[in-house]
Amino acid sequence: MKVRKGKLLCVGLICLDVVTTCKEFPVEDTLQRTESVSWQKGGNAANTSAVLGILGDEVDFMGSLPQSASDFSSKLMTSFVKAEMEDCGVGMQNVVNFTDKSLPFSCVILNKTKGSRTILHNNEGVTEPTFEDICRLNLDEYSWIHFEGRNIPEVLKMLDHVTAYNQKHPDEQIILSVDLERPNRKNIEQLIPYVDVLLVGRDFALGKGIQSAMEAVEHYRTVAKKRAYVVCPWGDTGAASGVAGAVDDVILTPAVPPDHVIDTLGAGDTFLGALIHSLRLERPLDDAVGYACAVAGFKCGHQGYKCLQAFTEKS
Ligand SMILES: Nc1ncnc2c1ncn2[C@@H]1O[C@H](COP(=O)(O)OP(=O)(O)O)[C@@H](O)[C@H]1O
Ligand SMILES: *[C@@H]1O[C@H](CO)[C@@H](O)[C@H](O)[C@H]1NC(C)=O
Ligand SMILES: *[C@@H]1O[C@H](CO)[C@@H](O)[C@H](O)[C@H]1NC(C)=O
Ligand SMILES: *[C@@H]1O[C@H](CO)[C@@H](O)[C@H](O)[C@H]1NC(C)=O
Repeated sequence: MKVRKGKLLCVGLICLDVVTTCKEFPVEDTLQRTESVSWQKGGNAANTSAVLGILGDEVDFMGSLPQSASDFSSKLMTSFVKAEMEDCGVGMQNVVNFTDKSLPFSCVILNKTKGSRTILHNNEGVTEPTFEDICRLNLDEYSWIHFEGRNIPEVLKMLDHVTAYNQKHPDEQIILSVDLERPNRKNIEQLIPYVDVLLVGRDFALGKGIQSAMEAVEHYRTVAKKRAYVVCPWGDTGAASGVAGAVDDVILTPAVPPDHVIDTLGAGDTFLGALIHSLRLERPLDDAVGYACAVAGFKCGHQGYKCLQAFTEKS
């Protein structure tokens, strides 16, 4: 896939995750001393941008950040996630500032013994980026735009806007990608015909009654844009991939298991970041999927994302 020079833009959600690790899941109305607690930025597009930043891509994030001057905790949460993103090398100059409400917030309880995770999420009144927000950007600076696939009516307008730009630049197209993650997002399938790289999540596929990664790619490559890359990661079995409208077989690339699985949270976002990173280097699809499995597998053997720095130095 030919990729012109320029930055990458990821559009989607950023939130704050407070993760508490317990020996046992708490019993209501009791006090328990927990093992550890950590604050981290979350949200699929934010996570993927951070992975790309760490892998060395020039990447900007576009999502909503509250800028309340009066609410002290809201102000701190915003500056915390912003600082964490900048520390990963992500450009935050295109965030959409809004003055109401506070940052989406997740309270996560990890039951270490059982490996379960219980999530309490709040996104009361979050304002998603709109068509007007993307119109403010100078598209000449970008070579690739990735959408998390939230707020479908606005994302469709944004895709139309970039597609119109591409029609005026036939030899220097901006690559578009989308992550299909939740099966219950209304009309999300309308995004499919626009994109050059389509990521089909396991939960999405299962929600559509599809039983395997191979089956997901076989199906979605019949509805994707001609020559689009369709990829479906599937936990420790690895990922399937194929090209829309091509006669070549769909291939299954095995996962690369770490010696010990430590933390699989965000494995999907890591896989996606690594896939985009490799495709931006114009690597063939099967090589890029192999690289993504290697990076995501490596991440599963470590806590968080900072380990990916070591991966880039190792390889
Ligand atoms: N236990 C694991 N061992 C090795 N690799 C894994 C494991 N879990 C996930 N991966 C890698 O991460 C990728 C994404 O996994 P997935 O389960 O789809 O992510 P998520 O649960 O975050 O949506 C897989 O394609 C695989 O390469
Ligand atoms: C958490 O793990 C402990 C130890 O295995 C188990 O007793 C408990 O049922 C688990 N709780 C939940 C809610 O999964
Ligand atoms: C983003 O990454 C964090 C840290 O690894 C993880 O806890 C969280 O689940 C990820 N968020 C999403 C939406 O995947
Ligand atoms: C939002 O605010 C930040 C910090 O004040 C600024 O850097 C950024 O350019 C603003 N974004 C927009 C779209 O105005």
